[in-house]
Amino acid sequence: MTQFRVKGRKKLEGVVKVSGAKNAALPILAASLMAETPSTLKDIPELRDVDNLCQIIAKMGAEVKREDGQVYIDPSSVNNPIVDFELARKLRASYYVLGVMLGREGFARTSLPGGCNIGNRPIDLHLKGFKALGAEVNMDHGIVEVKADSLSGDRIYLDYPSVGATINIMLAATLAEGQTVIENSAREPELVDLANYLTIMGADIKGVGTDTIKIEGVDQLEGAEHRIIPDRIEAGTFMISAALTEGEVFVENVLTEHVKPLIAKLKEMNVDVEEDITGIKVEKKDQLKSVDIKTLPYPGFPTDLQPQIMVLLTQADDTSLVIETVWENRFMHVDELQRLGADIKIDGHSSLIKPGNLSGAEVTATDLRGGAALILAALAGEGVTIINDIQHVERGYENIEHKLSGLGADIQKVSLHNNQKKETGS
Ligand code: UD1
Repeated sequence: MTQFRVKGRKKLEGVVKVSGAKNAALPILAASLMAETPSTLKDIPELRDVDNLCQIIAKMGAEVKREDGQVYIDPSSVNNPIVDFELARKLRASYYVLGVMLGREGFARTSLPGGCNIGNRPIDLHLKGFKALGAEVNMDHGIVEVKADSLSGDRIYLDYPSVGATINIMLAATLAEGQTVIENSAREPELVDLANYLTIMGADIKGVGTDTIKIEGVDQLEGAEHRIIPDRIEAGTFMISAALTEGEVFVENVLTEHVKPLIAKLKEMNVDVEEDITGIKVEKKDQLKSVDIKTLPYPGFPTDLQPQIMVLLTQADDTSLVIETVWENRFMHVDELQRLGADIKIDGHSSLIKPGNLSGAEVTATDLRGGAALILAALAGEGVTIINDIQHVERGYENIEHKLSGLGADIQKVSLHNNQKKETGS
C-alpha cells in the first residue's frame, strides 16, 4: 500500500507546470484507432488511466510506443474489437472504444466501464445515440455489445449534455454515412480538443463548443500529430493550493479561458488572481470571503473541482453553500475532511461549509478528486496527515507529490508493503 504523508502549514511558492489533460488524452488515444495510418500524440500525461487505455489499445492489435509524454499509435494492425474486460473495469473512458470500433468495424464489445464511484454513471445516452445511428445494442450480465452493418447519420437530442455520450456519438458519427446532428451536446474543452484532432485527421465536424454539433460522415481518416490541451482541473487544483497555503504560485501551461469559472470564484473570495499568456499567478493576501457555488456542465463551475474548492471554503470568513448538480454521490470526501476537522453538513445535493481550522489525521482517498481535496486539506492543516489509497489520485494527477514539493510542500510518498489494494479506476 502506498500513502502520502503531508506536513501542513508550509507556504507554497514558485512555478508549477500543468500536464496534458487526462480527459482529452483518453478519447484522443481511443480515436487514433479510427485512422488508416499512425498518429503521434504529444503531452500525454503519465497516469494510471492512460497506462490502462494504452494496454487496451495494444491488446486490440495496435502498435503503441510511449516515450517522454509522447505516444505513437499505429492502428493498421488492429484486429480485435473486443476490449479486455478486466482493463475496461479500471477506467470509465474505456467506453470510448465502443464509438471508435462501431465506426471503424461496425462491432465492439466491452464490459461496463469502471470509474470513480461518484454516482450511478449510466451509459443510456451513449447507447441511445448509437441506436439512432442504426446500431444494435445488446447488454447482458455487464457486457455491452454494439453492432451495425452500416451507420447512418441522424438528429440526436441528449436529455442531458453528457460529456461521454457527446464524445462517443461524435466518434461513431465521424465514419457514418451522411449528417449527424447532436443537440444539447456537452461543450467541455476536452471534447473540443478531440474534435480538433479528428478534424486534422480528415473529419468534418462543426459547432463544437456550442450546444449543437454537426458531423458530416467521411469515408476514412488519416493519422495525425496532435498536442493535448493543458489539464484545467489539475491547474485549478494548484490554483486552490496557493490560496489555501497563503502562498504565491504561478501556474504555467493553463488556458485561462478554461478556468474562468474558478477564477471568478477565487476573485469573489478575495484571492488575488493575475492572468497572462503563459499562465496564472495566484496569491492570497487577505481574509477569504465565503461564497456559494453550484456545479454545472461547462462553462459552469466544474464538478471535478468541487471537492477541492470545498477545502478552500473551510478557510473563509463565514458559512458557504455548495450545490452539486452533476453527480448524485459526490460528497464522499466530506467524511474524510471531517476527520481533519472540517465542519461540513450535507443535505441531499447541498453542503454547508462552516469556517474552522484543519489539523492532521489519517484519512483515505475515496475517489480521484476527493483524494486531491484531502491533499489540499493536509497542506493547509496543522501537523501531519496520512492519506491512504492514493492510487485514486494517481489515476488523474501526474507526479503530484513532486510538483507540490517543488513549490515547498512537505509531502512524501511512502510504500508500506507489496499487497496491492483493489483498484476502482474514472
Ligand atoms: C466526464 C469526466 C468526469 C466529469 C464529468 C462531468 C472523463 C473521463 N470524465 O465524465 O471527470 O466529472 O465528465 O464533467 O472525461 N449521464 C446519464 N446517462 C448517460 C451519461 C451520463 O444519465 O448516458 C449522467 C451521469 O450519471 C451524470 C451526468 O450525466 O450525472 C454527467 O455525466 P457525463 O457528462 O457523461 O460524465 P462523464 O463523461 O462520465
